[in-house]
Amino acid sequence: MSEDNPPYTIPFNKPGLAGNEMDYVADAIRRGHISGDGAYTIKCSALLEKNLNVPKVLLTTSCTHALEMAALLLDLQPGDEVIFPSFTFVSTVNAFVLRGVRPVFADIRPDTLNLDESRLERLITPRTRAVVVVHYAGVGCEMDAILELAERHGLQVVEDNAHGLFGKHRGRLLGTFGSLATLSFHETKNFTCGEGGALVINEPSLVERAEIIREKGTNRSRFFRGQVDKYTWVDVGSSYLPSDILAAYLYAQLEHAQEIQRRRRSIWETYAANLDDWAKRLGVKLPYIPDPCEQAYHMFYLLFPDLEHRQAFITHMKQRSILCVFHYLPLHLSDMGRKYGGQPGDCPITEDVSDRLVRLPFYNLLSAAEQAHVIASIQEFA
Ligand SMILES: Cc1ncc(COP(=O)(O)O)c(C=O)c1O
Repeated sequence: MSEDNPPYTIPFNKPGLAGNEMDYVADAIRRGHISGDGAYTIKCSALLEKNLNVPKVLLTTSCTHALEMAALLLDLQPGDEVIFPSFTFVSTVNAFVLRGVRPVFADIRPDTLNLDESRLERLITPRTRAVVVVHYAGVGCEMDAILELAERHGLQVVEDNAHGLFGKHRGRLLGTFGSLATLSFHETKNFTCGEGGALVINEPSLVERAEIIREKGTNRSRFFRGQVDKYTWVDVGSSYLPSDILAAYLYAQLEHAQEIQRRRRSIWETYAANLDDWAKRLGVKLPYIPDPCEQAYHMFYLLFPDLEHRQAFITHMKQRSILCVFHYLPLHLSDMGRKYGGQPGDCPITEDVSDRLVRLPFYNLLSAAEQAHVIASIQEFA
């Protein structure tokens, strides 16, 4: 939950230019193609397809919209059940609820805060169609177990990879396990264009329909490739294409992906190295990265012993003009979650972690001096 009331000397997030954003945006405008699927959209998709080694990446207006596309592509029907972690952003679930899906909430593991694969099978019923996993903080879920279970029960797997672009699990890139995966380029993410996202399509048979759904239910993409001689309404769909101006901004970020990830790794490791003793003294837990995971360096969080200490810490940091924020509120206990039968105690780890977690300022241009100030301020909290 961010409270972005300025002024904070160190905000929670601050989007920063990686290099060529202004030039590329100007170029996109000069080229005269500022709607969707212009030159920069094509460049972003090609770069992501190459780096992820996947058949197709379609840029979208947000991760939320990529998730909506996933729900449409899986042809989910009212009454179908889909399993989600309760500890996630609203959109992970809402995109599917829009199709009439009944959400079933799974608890998370206490170590990685990812969906607990050992508690998944008991949630599967004859109506279950899919499992949506979230690689929380860019640390991979236990995909071997999840894929095995999904295959055994004939379920689709969708990865909400809003946090995890370029993270890996057992050497395999996050976002390449499910038939579909989604990315976010929102301002708070490692790479951004303000608002944006992408649908990663690992199952080639879904590509053509995905293009149609993204283009308002028309076969416009095929028309422009000369594959059909007129373009017309052929399926359901909506307008999920971002402007090429946004894609131009995003391309400037993605072309510096390695540099951005190196910088974020250094920020993450500086927090971890400097907060270890302090955390042990106060009974605070730092993020846990299992051996098979190469994380995406999306966030750094602290887990306090209880709500009272977490709130006192946020206040302590605010008094030093540093904004730290918490998230997520358990979805099964939200107004909507309760309508679907969510009850206290359904997901005890989610309920507990949600009270205790706080995220530290983490953005690409956080300077060494700023981070040193954040760390010194944390260490004053005793
Ligand atoms: C796990 C997760 N999924 C989806 C989203 C939605 O992303 P977007 O803002 O790009 O729609 C977020 C937003 O932060 C998120 O954390």
